[in-house]
Amino acid sequence: MQSSDERQDEAGDGAVDTARDTLSVTDNRTGRTYELEITDDTVKAIDLRQIKVNEDDFGMLAYDPAFTNTASCRSAITYIDGAAGVLEYRGYSIEQLCEQSNYLEVAYLLINGELPDQAQLDEWTHLITIHTFVHENIRDFMQGFRYDAHPMGMLLAATGALSTFYPEASQVKDAEIRDMQVIRLLAKIPTLAAFAFRHSVGQPYVYPDNDLSYPGNFLNMMYKMTELKYEPDPRLERALDVLFILHADHEQNASTSAVRFVGSTEVDPYSSLAAGVAALYGPLHGGANEQALRMLRRIEKVENIEGFLEGVKAGDQRLMGFGHRVYKNYDPRARIIKKHLDEVMDVMGKSPLLEVAVELEKRAMDDDYFTSRKLYPNVDYYSGLLYEALHLPTSMFPVMFAIGRTSGWVAQWLEMINDSEQKIARPRQVYTGGRELEYTPIGER
Ligand code: CMC
Repeated sequence: MQSSDERQDEAGDGAVDTARDTLSVTDNRTGRTYELEITDDTVKAIDLRQIKVNEDDFGMLAYDPAFTNTASCRSAITYIDGAAGVLEYRGYSIEQLCEQSNYLEVAYLLINGELPDQAQLDEWTHLITIHTFVHENIRDFMQGFRYDAHPMGMLLAATGALSTFYPEASQVKDAEIRDMQVIRLLAKIPTLAAFAFRHSVGQPYVYPDNDLSYPGNFLNMMYKMTELKYEPDPRLERALDVLFILHADHEQNASTSAVRFVGSTEVDPYSSLAAGVAALYGPLHGGANEQALRMLRRIEKVENIEGFLEGVKAGDQRLMGFGHRVYKNYDPRARIIKKHLDEVMDVMGKSPLLEVAVELEKRAMDDDYFTSRKLYPNVDYYSGLLYEALHLPTSMFPVMFAIGRTSGWVAQWLEMINDSEQKIARPRQVYTGGRELEYTPIGER
């Protein structure tokens, strides 16, 4: 960064030079002008630091609560164009991946940066498949939870607990050791998730069946009862696989940022991912689909839609599953889920709420209130219905999200570890409290 007032007219012809990739900032307190370099439409926040009133001044900070306008990293993993409704993983559209790929291949793509060839995919799938079992002590540990424990709380604790079973995982600078933990995370999170579900419904845990596909085995661990061998319905297997793909990554959202933040301390990846699970546990992140489903249940039938929409427009409530901070167009993930809903309902039975959801969407899309505010269905509008069709309690919704998101968290964690620009995350603050107060002994207060 340069700082000078004369730079405005380097050619000396009186014209302000506009052809440079820089931003000129004038501090009206001092009258000084600073020139900040622009790279990829960003300026470096640290460049603001030289803007000072005097030499003792610490320098200017960027104030950005909730990081709504701060790029925290450079990333080559996920691209979102919210205005156009585009989502791409490593440059491949979500539509193509859902249509032609499967979750494990997408996980490989996210984590390794490129699509695998057949031999690489076979080895990757094999490695993940043979690591699905967890240590028996993990099972015992999970059995120690209360009978009605929230499965997301169980997943959170169990993910963190894995670090105590693989102490070598703390060597985050060792690529070979990192690779092993990546396999373990992808393999074991579905097992922990299914154990948490079985615990919450009071059923015995089901061990993985390594003859089955990734989603097929998950269905087995969730739903197997007395049959000798669980045979997943291929339509459910496919719908689940697509759901995992759709949730695999979404760039720097709250849980991914939590993974990166905690990971920046160089703690092991299990602890970093536990932070991601914790962030996803929050209703504002992993819980919106539950709200959408509750809303549909409240509306109950098509005749009640009109009154409900009037209430939304009057500001009494929100149309849950509509609107998005980033997407100002139809969320591409919502469209894909909708396609798979019918198939799942063919197997599991139709939900009367589907008719309500479809009609509600249609009417909202015909209504100026929603279109003028660019409010379209988001991923959560239909995913709750899909989970309900799979007979999942709402407490399992964020758990399902976490299984898919594991590949994205891992990819982002690896990218952060290998990024020489990154260091321990440590934001600044604007201090607003008191200073240099005199301590008063408790008896005198
Ligand atoms: N229903 C009715 N009105 C809405 C809605 C909605 N769902 N969302 C936004 N608005 C209105 C809002 O009242 C405001 O109107 P006005 O300009 O008259 O004041 C305008 O649209 C802009 O709203 P905003 O709150 O400034 O928009 P935002 O970008 O901050 O909010 C959102 C994004 C997702 C929080 C919001 O749309 C919302 O609350 N949606 C419902 C909850 C939901 O579905 N959340 C899941 C998001 S997807 C999760 C993921 O990708 O992981």
